[in-house]
Amino acid sequence: MKRSFDNLAKAYTFLERLTFGHQLERSRNHGLKALGSDKCDRCLILGPGDGRFLNLALAKNPKLQIDSIERSPKMQEQTSARIQKLGKNYMNRYRHIANDARQYSFPDSEYDCVVAQYFLDCFKSTDANALLEKFAHTLKSNGKLIYADFTIPPKVPARWIANGIVGLLYLCFRLATDIETHRLATLVWPESLKLISRETRLKGLVTSTIRRKSPTNADHWAMSRSDFSATES
Ligand SMILES: C[S@@+](CC[C@H](N)C(=O)[O-])C[C@H]1O[C@@H](n2cnc3c(N)ncnc32)[C@H](O)[C@@H]1O
Repeated sequence: MKRSFDNLAKAYTFLERLTFGHQLERSRNHGLKALGSDKCDRCLILGPGDGRFLNLALAKNPKLQIDSIERSPKMQEQTSARIQKLGKNYMNRYRHIANDARQYSFPDSEYDCVVAQYFLDCFKSTDANALLEKFAHTLKSNGKLIYADFTIPPKVPARWIANGIVGLLYLCFRLATDIETHRLATLVWPESLKLISRETRLKGLVTSTIRRKSPTNADHWAMSRSDFSATES
């Protein structure tokens, strides 16, 4: 059997609920509140897996256009099948744009929202941090990064238990998939991404955050120029 996320695609929801109940779903759904606003039109989802969050996002915001980057064809099939059940109008708002996130050239300031849920845990620290920089780059100013993943809480005994669970998860993922790492990446958050909301579950084993990209000096400059032209005219 070739190791790939394809092997997990059909059983993914079942296995997740068997191990964590609905806790991981709840941790993803924390991000939904960032998608409801009028200013959120374009969203990029990295490794949407079987597409449960992607479906909820399409349903939550009827204006939202979603692009996805997913390497596993079978996971992608699961996502498309879910959206098709919702109807044609939903399918028109979804595009699969690339397979491997590491090979993709992320466009500058393109998205109102980028979603990385249980995705950065697939990479070694160097790759995960390079991707984080690319997410910051592809977000518009004031755009939001929605993140959820396993984390190791600082205090014992929760720390020991979390290390045991995460170690076991990596063992299983390495048997079934082509995941290249065996530990959680140490993330260095780009300075431009300011934390605006954080929620933890399972005594700190999972963390969900929403970060907002602060406007750059160039944005401030462009804004003050447009204010100036507005007063001039
Ligand atoms: C652990 S699953 C998480 C799926 C989903 N985001 C969730 O919250 O359940 C990781 C997903 O990322 C995809 N993936 C892993 N490496 C990838 C890469 N380099 N580029 C794009 N997708 C990737 C896998 O195929 C899988 O669907």
